[in-house]
Amino acid sequence: MSDLAFGIDIGGSGIKGAPVDLVAGDYAQKRTRIPTPQPSTPQAVADVLAELVGAYHLPDDVPVGVAFPAPMQRGVVRSMANLDQSWTGVDLPALVHRATGRHVVAVNDADAAGIGEVRYGAARDTHGVVLVATLGTGIGSALVVDGALVPNTELGHLEIDGYDAETRAADSAREREDLSWEAWTERLQRYFGVVEDLLSPDLIVVGGGVSKHHEKFLPHLHLRAPIVPAQLRNAAGIVGAAALAADR
Ligand code: BGC
Repeated sequence: MSDLAFGIDIGGSGIKGAPVDLVAGDYAQKRTRIPTPQPSTPQAVADVLAELVGAYHLPDDVPVGVAFPAPMQRGVVRSMANLDQSWTGVDLPALVHRATGRHVVAVNDADAAGIGEVRYGAARDTHGVVLVATLGTGIGSALVVDGALVPNTELGHLEIDGYDAETRAADSAREREDLSWEAWTERLQRYFGVVEDLLSPDLIVVGGGVSKHHEKFLPHLHLRAPIVPAQLRNAAGIVGAAALAADR
């Protein structure tokens, strides 16, 4: 494994990337953020990725890891909740390889964040079943069992009380409905309660931008497993995707 890889996190509003130092598990240089093009079609996004990677003048053999907000099977986008629908069926590593000339690995964004937290962050010393949930536009989930990722768990789309769970409990629902922390915490309690009953994780790690306000909601959740904030915060997806690119 080489010590440097480039990580990219594609989101609904921004595309972020940085070279990652894989020994430290942190950015090797400052991160860059470019607004997600609208419409967020595959070609428009690929052009942004080429610009992003090109800005750093890295050696040709530095691989690229892409974290993408959809379930991914061997790099192919299976279905799309929060970006342009034309992504379904796209071979993301092939597209990004054409745009950058580099070796590319692409995984689900929450899976990338899960690997980041397990290797370098809040779940570093935990064995057993770790669930990482990212609360943002949607709810992403990563299930990591003794360090091995079970990909594409998509637990944000569990149907709970008749709703697609992320439409009620994602951070975007809190913002959209202008919910108080207390009201949103009740929804998180219901959500994580169901998830815990299904999977009995040993540790739950909560990421996404809102995790910087963790003291407003995490201490008020009552679960059997400890539930802790992500340590890499928004860097987890970039760092985890870069680590996976270097593995393969
Ligand atoms: C998608 C997941 C993704 C999550 C967070 C969900 O809507 O289905 O694949 O991980 O949002 O971006």
